[in-house]
Amino acid sequence: MKIKNICCIGAGYVGGPTMAVIAQKCPEINVTVVDINENRIAAWNDEDVNNIPIYEPGLSEIVAEARDRNLFFSTDVDEAIDKADMIFISVNTPTKTYGIGKGMAADLKFIELCARQIARVAKSDKIVVEKSTLPVRTAQALKNILENTGNGVNFQILSNPEFLAEGTAVDDLLNPDRVLIGGDIDSTEGKEAVSSLVEIYANWIPKERILTTNVWSSELSKLTANAFLAQRVSSINAMSELCEKTGADVNEVAKAVGMDSRIGSKFLKSSVGFGGSCFQKDILNLVYISKSLGLNEVADYWEQVILMNDHQKRRFAANIVKTLFNTVSGKKIGVLGWAFKKDTNDTRESAAIYVTDYLLNEQAEITVYDPKVKAEQVYADLDYLNSRPEEENRKRVKVVNSPYEAGDKAHAVAVLTEWDEFVELNWDDIYKNMLKPAFLFDGRRLLDRKEKEKIGFEFYAIGN
Ligand code: UDX
Ligand code: ADP
Repeated sequence: MKIKNICCIGAGYVGGPTMAVIAQKCPEINVTVVDINENRIAAWNDEDVNNIPIYEPGLSEIVAEARDRNLFFSTDVDEAIDKADMIFISVNTPTKTYGIGKGMAADLKFIELCARQIARVAKSDKIVVEKSTLPVRTAQALKNILENTGNGVNFQILSNPEFLAEGTAVDDLLNPDRVLIGGDIDSTEGKEAVSSLVEIYANWIPKERILTTNVWSSELSKLTANAFLAQRVSSINAMSELCEKTGADVNEVAKAVGMDSRIGSKFLKSSVGFGGSCFQKDILNLVYISKSLGLNEVADYWEQVILMNDHQKRRFAANIVKTLFNTVSGKKIGVLGWAFKKDTNDTRESAAIYVTDYLLNEQAEITVYDPKVKAEQVYADLDYLNSRPEEENRKRVKVVNSPYEAGDKAHAVAVLTEWDEFVELNWDDIYKNMLKPAFLFDGRRLLDRKEKEKIGFEFYAIGN
């Protein structure tokens, strides 16, 4: 079946960029991205493409090219479902914050709502593609809802996990290592559904990079890929602490280890801890699934990746306190970077949130600068932790528009996101305006130690 109309439910970090690229590469397909969040849709439709709600290098240009040609953003979910031959579900699947599986299992309520809406609205056969990160066997749950509540039409469920990384989403989508499509490959209808999605991607991706599997392998591959990547970061972060105690340099270790072609050099950059919407959530998911199947050793093995990451964030913050003569009470600390990595405005699970929370518990005064994150987001992230009254977060945390303001009269500055612009700052000026001794904590191994020490900073860097 040749797909003519696509609907994507969820205009977030996954749905937005993915659909923009599909629309750009397949001008003959109409792509409508819908969301219940009216502000988000309004921002996607903003005349000035620089105001789209998601910052990704190269994305605005693609939206400018395809929008209102064959790429549309709308809040009319029913209409888009009705018209579509293929529906992608890209809604958020946060970790549950209540009830059974609290703090571990994925909350599937948004997915279920989508499924019920599709079942209610659909009057013709549809292919439903799960794009959100989901626990294994979610496709089965989707199928149950669709088949038992629908209007007697046929649904094929595909799993097509997203492997894009934020900050490089456009490149990852244009030139992916592989695309994975899981479907009911034992039935003719299932095979047809899989091949109609393969045909879409084949418009710009070589066929040998498009893998097809059964649904469960596809779902589990996504969790596995993220768990492996996160595990590498936790592994190198574990070594960073050992390096600090022994005089080795974690960057040198990572380089030496990464040159072994069996190991490879990627994802060996020691940091203040991984963040982002996927790593922690997916591993918790894996842990939850393993535990519920009675596989306790498997669950413990993967849980350690998260525990190590929590330790790294806490250790970094505790080291700031210890270095500042065991107290940061009333001291101003400049935080450079709030996003969970550079080139994104996404802050979900960012290490900066947890480091700041720790320092606030120690009564520090924090000044945050991030080139892409807005003040409301910083406060929302801190409020979400529920560690103190919201007024106190506003009183003790200032969000400023310049990195120099963050450093002004500060006892210490901490680099928590590896934004390129932080390398180029006039560090002499920052040093001059700080209190002395001026402490600089590099949570990203971004800055040159010798240079900074020459300026006069007391310099600390992860793993060195
Ligand atoms: C990840 C996966 O890479 C992607 O394939 C999947 O689709 C979604 O989850 P993302 O979370 O957007 O993507 O970013 P990623 O580049 O993987 O970084 C995750 C976190 O790990 C960031 O906080 C990053 O700073 C940190 N990281 C990454 C390190 O600390 N060291 C590294 O070497 C690599
Ligand atoms: P991701 O990183 O997975 O893309 P986001 O939170 O950035 O996650 O985006 C998910 C989007 O899905 C949000 O904009 C949210 O408003 C939207 N959404 C959630 N549930 C529904 C629904 N039932 N119908 C339409 N949109 C939804």
